[in-house]
Amino acid sequence: MLRNIAITAASVLALSSGAHAAGTEQHIEDFAFSFEGPFGTFDEHQLQRGLQVFTEVCSACHGMKQVRIGELSEEGGPSLPEDQVRAYAANLSVVDKETGEDRPATPADKFPPNTGAGAPDLSVIAKARAAFHGPYGLGINQFFRGIGGPEYIHALLTGYTGEEKEEAGTTFYENHAFSTGWIAMPAPLSDDLVTYQDGTPATVEQMSEDVAAFLMWAAEPKMMARKQAGFVGVLFLGLLSVLLYLTNKRLWASIKGKKAAA
Ligand code: HEC
Repeated sequence: MLRNIAITAASVLALSSGAHAAGTEQHIEDFAFSFEGPFGTFDEHQLQRGLQVFTEVCSACHGMKQVRIGELSEEGGPSLPEDQVRAYAANLSVVDKETGEDRPATPADKFPPNTGAGAPDLSVIAKARAAFHGPYGLGINQFFRGIGGPEYIHALLTGYTGEEKEEAGTTFYENHAFSTGWIAMPAPLSDDLVTYQDGTPATVEQMSEDVAAFLMWAAEPKMMARKQAGFVGVLFLGLLSVLLYLTNKRLWASIKGKKAAA
């Protein structure tokens, strides 16, 4: 019985890890981000750096309209002090729902949308783009290593070749991570484009990783709470199993005991 279970488990593992071998020719490197795996947590300093990159660079073209600004101060995320978040919000302009006029944002507002450049909203892009371990198989790779969304964003930001071409009045930039190989987004990052307050050197590589981690948080700000709840759940179920096993043994003890004596 135990042997059967072991064999089944082994083949399940083998099958699920082989499943993503076939796929696209895009080259996307797997990363060990701090938040992956059942006990992974976001690195708040990395999220703060990622927020800076998003604010100073990406938000020029991209919106993030599903994320509430106040989330920036919540635990498990960038954990910024509340007064900093209020100051951050006040620098953004949102359309008031009642008056229909522009006003400075508050932490209760969401990040503003931005459709001017024809760029997609980045609220959930880290979950919308699964580079590998996608929504197929048994979820074992997803469980331990994520679905590859942040890796895709990192690969996209570092995947420019420098080639460009014009088609029907639009300039396209060659990028090996993008599905068609040519993207309408010009390479947004260059070394030292931002100045990190914590002294981390702002290389393209570093900024790409940071903003990718930040966008993963934006897409799933409650990830830490979800993992904790899951862990507690598993712990309780384990305890319940032990108790049920002992109860069962005890209930049948008299009958089984008699049999043995007979
Ligand atoms: C100059 C404007 C501009 C800036 C700045 C910019 N983007 Fe974009 N981005 C675009 C446009 C336009 C597209 C749509 C490209 C297309 O579909 O060909 C896009 C698409 C994307 C996509 C989606 C790619 C896909 O798979 O569809 C991601 C992810 C992305 N940008 C991330 C970023 C990040 C992160 C930053 C900041 C580091 C950033 N962008 C800065 C204009 C911009």
